[in-house]
Order: sequence, then C-alpha cells, then structure tokens
Amino acid sequence: MNEEVTRERIKWLRTEIERHNDLYYRQAEPTISDFDYDRLKRELAELEERHPALDSPASPTQKVGDDRLEGFISYRHRQAMLSLDNTYNKEELFDFEKRLKKIFGDEPLDFVIEPKIDGVAVSLTYENGEFVRAVTRGNGTEGDDITRNVKMIEGLPRRLEGPDTPELIEIRGEIYMTLEEFQRINRERAERELPLYANPRNFAAGSVKLLDAHIAASRKLEVVLYAMGHCQPMPFTRHSEFQELLDRWRFPTVEKYWRARGIEEAWKSIEELEEIRHGFAYATDGAVIKLNPIAQQQQAGATSKAPRWAISYKFAAEQAETRLEKITIQVGRTGALTPVAELEPVLLAGTTVSRATLHNADEIARKDIRVGDTVVVEKAGEIIPAVIEVVIEKRTAQSVPYVFPSTCPDCGTTAVRQPDEAAWRCPNPICPPQVRRRIEHFAGRQAMDIEGLGTAVVEQLAERGLVKNIADLYRLKEEDLLPLEKFAQKSSENLIAALEASKSMELWRLIHGLGLQHVGVGASKDLANHFNSLEKIRTADEETLTAIDGVGEIMAKSIVRFFAEEENQGVIERLIESGLTVEQEAKVALEENALLLAGKIFVLTGTLPTMKREDAKALIEKAGGKVTGSISKKTSYLLAGESPGSKFTKAEKLGVTVIDEDQLRNLLP
Ligand code: IVH
Repeated sequence: MNEEVTRERIKWLRTEIERHNDLYYRQAEPTISDFDYDRLKRELAELEERHPALDSPASPTQKVGDDRLEGFISYRHRQAMLSLDNTYNKEELFDFEKRLKKIFGDEPLDFVIEPKIDGVAVSLTYENGEFVRAVTRGNGTEGDDITRNVKMIEGLPRRLEGPDTPELIEIRGEIYMTLEEFQRINRERAERELPLYANPRNFAAGSVKLLDAHIAASRKLEVVLYAMGHCQPMPFTRHSEFQELLDRWRFPTVEKYWRARGIEEAWKSIEELEEIRHGFAYATDGAVIKLNPIAQQQQAGATSKAPRWAISYKFAAEQAETRLEKITIQVGRTGALTPVAELEPVLLAGTTVSRATLHNADEIARKDIRVGDTVVVEKAGEIIPAVIEVVIEKRTAQSVPYVFPSTCPDCGTTAVRQPDEAAWRCPNPICPPQVRRRIEHFAGRQAMDIEGLGTAVVEQLAERGLVKNIADLYRLKEEDLLPLEKFAQKSSENLIAALEASKSMELWRLIHGLGLQHVGVGASKDLANHFNSLEKIRTADEETLTAIDGVGEIMAKSIVRFFAEEENQGVIERLIESGLTVEQEAKVALEENALLLAGKIFVLTGTLPTMKREDAKALIEKAGGKVTGSISKKTSYLLAGESPGSKFTKAEKLGVTVIDEDQLRNLLP
C-alpha cells in the first residue's frame, strides 16, 4: 500500500469503527458480529503500528467505546474503567505471559481465570458500606448514572457489612439478562406478534438505559461482579481475596473461577470453561485471564485503553455459513407475514439449522438478502437462529434483489401495513392459517389449556371444515372426532371432556385466548382483575382502558378495534351461549385466601416428579406467592426437581431453603 492508500484506509477504518461503536454502545443495536468488529480494530491497530506518523490519540484503538446518552447525568469514575485486550488464539495468549515475564522474570505467574460475561459493564460505588450509585462505563473516564434502574435488580446488596468494608469502593461488573427471562419476554412478544429482540446482551444494554424505571423493572435484569475500581483502604493483596470478599458481602459473583500457575495451567482452565459455560445463567463469550497479586497488577500498569495485567481470550462465535435456498412467508395469528429463511442444513452450536428468521421486509432490504446468497447464520440468544449478513464475495451474477410479496401467500388478500409497524399483515380474518393459529392459541397452555387440542388436531378440524373459529369448538361432538387420524372412542371422549372442562377456566385465560393483538398474559390478568367481566371489557372505551395500570394507548386501541368487529362479536355471543365463564368474583374475595404465600418468592428448577412447571407456578401464584427466574438473597424457596443445575448450588451458597414438590404441597392451602 502506498502512503496515500494507507492514509485513506486508516481514515475509513476509524470512521467505520466509530460508527459501529455508536451502534453497539449507544444504540445497543450492533449490525456486525463481535468477531468482524475486532477484525476491523485489529487491522487499524496494525496499520497504525507500521505507520507511527499516522497514529493519533483520537483513534478508536486508543479509547474505549462511549455509551453516554442524552438525558443522563454523567459521573466521573475515581479510577478509569478500562476495556480489555482481546485475543482469539492460543499463541497470542501465550505472548501475554511472555510480556509479563519480561517484567517479573521466569517464576511461574499466579493467574486467575474467569468467564468473560457478555453483558453491559457497570461500576457500583459504596460509601461507608452504603450503595450510592451505579454508573455505566461511558468513555472510560465518566459514565451515565443508571442508579434508578440498577436499584431494581434483585439480589444487589444495599449495604456492605464486616470489618473489611472500605470507606469507599468502586465495584465493577456486568449487567445481564438470563436466557430464560429473555426467552420469556420474546415468547410474550411472539404471542402478540411484535418484533422479537435480537439477543439478551443488546436487550439488557437497551434496558439499563431506559429513562422509565418501571419498564426497566418489568425486564428482570441481573448483575455479576468481578473487578475492583478505586478502593480506600484496600483490605486485600490478591484478586482471589477480593473475589472471596465479594462472596462474603453477598454479591452475585462469577459462577466459577480457577487459579493457575503459569499460562499452560491457565490454558487447561480455559478449555474447561469452554466445556461448562453453557450451563451458566449468563452468556459468556470468552475467558478473562488476570494476574492475581494486586502489587503485580499495579507494577504492570495499563495503556490508555486496557490493563497490561489482564487479557481476554474469546471463544469462536457460534456462527456458520450456508446457502439461502428460499424465503417463505409465515402467516401468524394476527395476520403478520414473517419471512423465514430456508437454508441448506448446517451444523451450528451442536444442532442442525435449516431455518432462520429474517424478521421483516425492512431487515431483508437493509441487509440486501437474496435467494441463492451465501449467508452467515448465528444463534441469537440461542433460541431462533438469525441471518446476520450476506457473504457478498460469494454472490452470483444472476442474483436479484428480493421482492417482498404484496399479497398473502395463503389466501391472496392484498397485504397492508400500519404506519407504525414493521410487519406487513394479511387483513383477511378468515385466512386459513390465521384461523388455525387462533384456535391453537386459544387451546394453548397460556390460554384455555385444552389437552388433546394440538396443532395436528386443529389442522384436521380446520381442513374438514368442522371448526372455522373458536366458538365452533364447543359444537363438536364425539362422532365428529372419531374419523380424525389417531382418534378412537376414548380420545374423542377425552377431548370433548377437556372442552367441557375449559368452560370453567378463569376469565383471564379466556381473554388471552381470544388473541387480541398486543394483549399478552399479563395484560389479560390486569383486564380480568380490573373489570371482572367480559361484558365490561368489550364495552369499555379507550379512555377507560388506558386508565388501567399496564394498558397503554396501542393496546387500548387494539382492544376497542377487536370488539368492534362484527365477526368477533358473533364469536363471543356464541361462546357465552355455550356457557363459558365470562365473569369472576371481585379481587378482594380472592385475596383473602391468597395470603398464605403472600410476599414469598419462589424459584423453580429441574424436572418435578408429577407437576408441570407451569402448574406449580400457577398454584404458587394463586396462593399469593411470586415466581421469579433466578436466585437471590430475597428468594424464599427454591423448588427443585430432578437435575436442578446451577440454581441449586447458588441457593445453597446463599442459604436459600430448598424444597421438593411434596413440601410445596404442604405449603399450599
Ligand atoms: S475485568 C480493568 N473480568 O469485558 C479490567 N471484565 O471487553 C476490568 N468483562 O470492560 C475488566 N467479564 O466490561 C473483567 N470476568 C471479567 C469480565 C469482564 C466481562 C467485560 C468488562 C470489560 C470488557 C472488555
């Protein structure tokens, strides 16, 4: 490269990296993988090293990414909050030790190896043992005050006790969302046919920066602490002692860490970590190797961006390349048209992937994804694989841009799009796949929970014209079911009995089962408890609805629209005629016997001997208890079944009472 070309390349790389920094740190919506980002940074660092005249302190290689946003108060860190140098291969990791040996001589070094948590960095300040503030990394020197949102995190100690409590300490860690919670939120969004969040890290990053602390609280965030900033006075001489102190102060800490003498031993721990990391509550993207003695850390010092006494070894990203064979369009319950990538099967993180989500028409256009392209797929939050990008170099000359269909692929109705929505929808209420999905939703676990009415049965009932809407279900007779595949006398009787039993299901289940757009389980419960009657809900106006806690404007509009439709009115009339429960007693009466477990917080883990998890959860909630996703000091009971995993160990560590199914039954009314 001649001087001019190098100069241009450096300029381009700097702008490009700054753009990706903004997308990742400020907007929490990165558009490239960590691996590709690191590759850009590495190329820039190498060019700058070879051309010192073109180096600049303003280069993104010399600074940490900046996450500060408008609307937040900034605080200065007492000790800079640095980033870490990354390596992707063993050789570079061993070079790290070589550099340290130049300072400390040939004696084997004392290292600590920890998981590298893929979350959002945070610094917590405690003054005289009291929690005073939580601040983001910001630009490394000062960050945004996110105390209000961090206070909502269960299990974060408000006070540090004991003789070793410093007058002032900054404790650094990572905020994250468990995969379980992320999937719960996405499942609810999928049910409401809202666009899904891409992965837990970006979602957590967006959530800590929410100005509305109530919304932040409804997305359960967690934290794990692993490093120290400023500390006065310093009651320990090794990082491992600091970790023990964090445990004594009852902070959530890394699930496991290793001590090693020398890099060879450290490497063994990294390999072990790679084996077990998927069992952790948080996502990990590598290992962090730290020099253990604090005096040695201080002697090794830091560059403007990262300490010299620590390094991260990143695990290979769980991505794979494959060919996009075609794009199919799925029609959802509310008519949303979701594009799905049909892929040449490829092995990814231990499973074969042949389909991946393409989110919506805009996403396809933005990434210019075309049929026949070679694409990179990634397991986003390890639920639904997603197409990340196109490998442009492998595109053939014949490829043409993808045109999103203007009509429903199933019934041919012209698709429509609301101005504020990403999804195109089929507006035809009797479009067959929509009808089938509505019935499946109605019968589902989170709604009327009708056993024996799964996808295959619904499909047959719809195909034979026996059921065109949910009200038709209650007209079914045994003789209608007998000719269905795999149906005999007994199974037909069972399904009729299950339908009969569903008539007395709680009101919220019926409301949720109706499948109103934007109305999930939580809102259905709110509506049921507020109105206690379907009649009152269907006649409520927008103003009355928005006055209810948990019901926003969009939801209120959707509710009014739903009940105004003639087709829906007819269905509801027939449901009432069939004798479904459309009223409930006012909540006061319910609360009297709910008191037994009031204020008690349960966490569930493992497989229970007889109960389904949902049933256990429902019983606990009915008795006034709360069920949350992860263990903290506030947890009253861990209900454990077979193969309980890491929650069990954590419960023991925190002294949380562990109970089994029988003991739960004893606690219940
Ligand atoms: S130590 C001065 N330990 O990774 C070094 N960082 O990519 C302080 N991270 O800025 C960091 N897990 O936000 C440390 N076990 C761990 C970590 C960890 C995740 C984050 C941290 C850091 C970033 C660098």
